[in-house]
Amino acid sequence: MGSTLLQQVTFLMVALCAIWVLPELVLAKHAAITRHYKFNIKMQNVTRLCQTKSILTVNGQFPGPRIIAREGDRLVIKVVNHVTYNVTLHWHGVRQLRSGWADGPAYITQCPIQTGQSYVYSFSVTGQRGTLFWHAHISWLRATLYGPIVILPKKHDSYPFPQPFKEVPIIFGEWWKADTETIISQALQSGGAPNNSDAYTINGLTGALSNCSAKDTFKLKVKPGKTYLLRLINAALNDELFFSIANHTLTVVDADAIYVKPFKTPIVLITPGQTINVLLTTKSKTPNTNFVMAARPYATGPGPFDNTTVTGLVEYEESNPKQMNKKPLLKPALPKFNDTAFAMKFSKRIRSLATAKFPANVPNKVDRRFFFTVGLGTRPCPLNQTCQGPNNTMFAGTVNNVSFVQPNTALLQAHFFNKSRGVYTTDFPANPPFIFNYTGTTPSNIMVASGTKVVVLPFNTSVELVMQDTSIIGAESHPLHLHGYNFFVVGQGFGNFNANKDPAKFNLVDPAERNTVGVPSGGWVAIRFLADNPGVWFMHCHLEVHTSWGLKMAWIVMDGKGPNQRLPRPPSDLPTC
Ligand code: C2O
Repeated sequence: MGSTLLQQVTFLMVALCAIWVLPELVLAKHAAITRHYKFNIKMQNVTRLCQTKSILTVNGQFPGPRIIAREGDRLVIKVVNHVTYNVTLHWHGVRQLRSGWADGPAYITQCPIQTGQSYVYSFSVTGQRGTLFWHAHISWLRATLYGPIVILPKKHDSYPFPQPFKEVPIIFGEWWKADTETIISQALQSGGAPNNSDAYTINGLTGALSNCSAKDTFKLKVKPGKTYLLRLINAALNDELFFSIANHTLTVVDADAIYVKPFKTPIVLITPGQTINVLLTTKSKTPNTNFVMAARPYATGPGPFDNTTVTGLVEYEESNPKQMNKKPLLKPALPKFNDTAFAMKFSKRIRSLATAKFPANVPNKVDRRFFFTVGLGTRPCPLNQTCQGPNNTMFAGTVNNVSFVQPNTALLQAHFFNKSRGVYTTDFPANPPFIFNYTGTTPSNIMVASGTKVVVLPFNTSVELVMQDTSIIGAESHPLHLHGYNFFVVGQGFGNFNANKDPAKFNLVDPAERNTVGVPSGGWVAIRFLADNPGVWFMHCHLEVHTSWGLKMAWIVMDGKGPNQRLPRPPSDLPTC
C-alpha cells in the first residue's frame, strides 16, 4: 500500500515537473518534450460481421488510441490493467535505447501486468521519423489491442518530400468472430493449426465485401489535386498483405520509421510488423467515379489461410453530397496470393535515403557471423493423446532447430540481477545443428529441439545474420522482427545462401533499414546491425501463430564500459511474476 502511494506521489511530481519545465523547453528550437498518456485496458463490446463480442481495448477504443510524438520526445504511458487477462504492451519498432525495461514482450523484458496492477512505460524516441505502432505482447491479445504511433520530424524540421495536405493512418488488422484466446489455447493443446480469421480490417472495419458489413467500411474523403500521406501499418496477426487503390499510384517514402528513396508503385506489400508511409496524390479534378482501396493476403505457406479481401473507399468531395453515393466504383487489381516474384521485387526496391542528413550507417566490418534457419517442424504428441499436427505430431516453429520455450520469469530481470540459472542458457547455436538442403527435399527426421537459449553479444559487436527459410513442412515467407534495433537488409535471394558467392553482391551503400523483414519463401535474407543497445532483445516471426509455436529467440547485449553504455536499474513499478 505504502509503495502505491509513493508511486502516485512520484507520478504527480513528475507530471508537475513536466508542466513547469514545458513552457521553457518549447521555446528552444528542436526542444524535446515529454508526452503523457494513460491507457486503461478494459473490455468493450464490439459488433463486426453481425456478431457482437467482448474484446480487450485501450480506453474502450478499437483500434486503440493514436500516440503522437516528435523525434526526440519522451513518452510516458501509464498502463492500468482492468481486465482478467495478464497484459503487456510493446512499442513496436521503437529503439528503446537503454530503456529495455519499457520494451514490453512478456517474459522477455518484463513480467505481465496483472489484473488491477499498472506499469508506466517510459522511453524516448530517438533518430526515428515516420510510423510505428503499439500492440499487446502476450499470447494473442494483440488481435484487438493495437494502435498507431506517429513520429513527426523535430519542430522546424521538414519531411524530405513535399509537405502533405493531410496525414491518415491506415491500420490493417484481422478479425475473428470467435474468441482468439480460446482459438490459440486449443491449437496449442491439440498441436494443430489455429482457425483462420473471418475477415481483415482497415482501421477496425471489415469492409463491403465481407458478410453483413457494408456499413463498416473505411472511407477516405479527399479533395482533388492534393497529396495525402497514408501511414500504413500491418497489425494483422498471421498474414502479409498486398494493398492497392484503384487507378492511383502510391509513392513509398518511409518504411519502419526510416525515410527511403521515394519510388512509385500501384501495389504495396506489407508484412505483419512493418509500417510503410506512402504519398497519394489525388486527381486534379473530381472524377465521376469512386475508388476502392483493397488489401488481401500474400500467402506462401502449405496450410489454408483467410483468403478474403478487405476494402475501403476513396471518395472525392462533391458540393452535392447526394452525388457521391451514385458514382460507379473502380476496383484495384492485386497480385495472386502466392506472387513471390512480386514480393522479392518489391522488397528490393526499398532503399535507404543515404544522404548526409539521413545517412545509412551500415556496419562495414563484421565481428560475428550467424546463420539461422527459420521455419517449422514437429514435436512428438504427448502419450495418451492424439494430435492435430502432421502425422499425429504437434506443429513447432524453430530457429536453428531450437523451438523457444517461454520462461516463467522475465529474461531481462534474470540477466540484470545475475539469476540466469534455471531460466535460460547461453548456448543458442550460431549455425544449424546439421546441414541439409534447406530449400530442397525435406529430411526424414523433422523433430525439433527445445529450450530457452540466447546468444550473448559484447557491447558494440557488429553482427551479420543470414536467415534461411526451410522447406520443412513447406517453404514460407517469415517476417522476422528484431526488438531494440534497426538492421540493414544487405542481401536476399532464393534457394540456399551461398557463403562463397552471395556476400559479393551485398548492398552496403543504401540498403533498407528496418525492424521487420520478410525472409523470402524458399530463400534467405542477410542483415547487419551494431549491437550498441544493452539489454535482452527478442527476435521472432511476426506471424503470431509461428511465434506461438516457438519461432523465436533472444539476444543478450552486454553493457559497455562507458556511463552511457549501461542499462539503468529497472523502474520501481516493474511488474513481478
Ligand atoms: Cu511487434 Cu515482438 O513484436
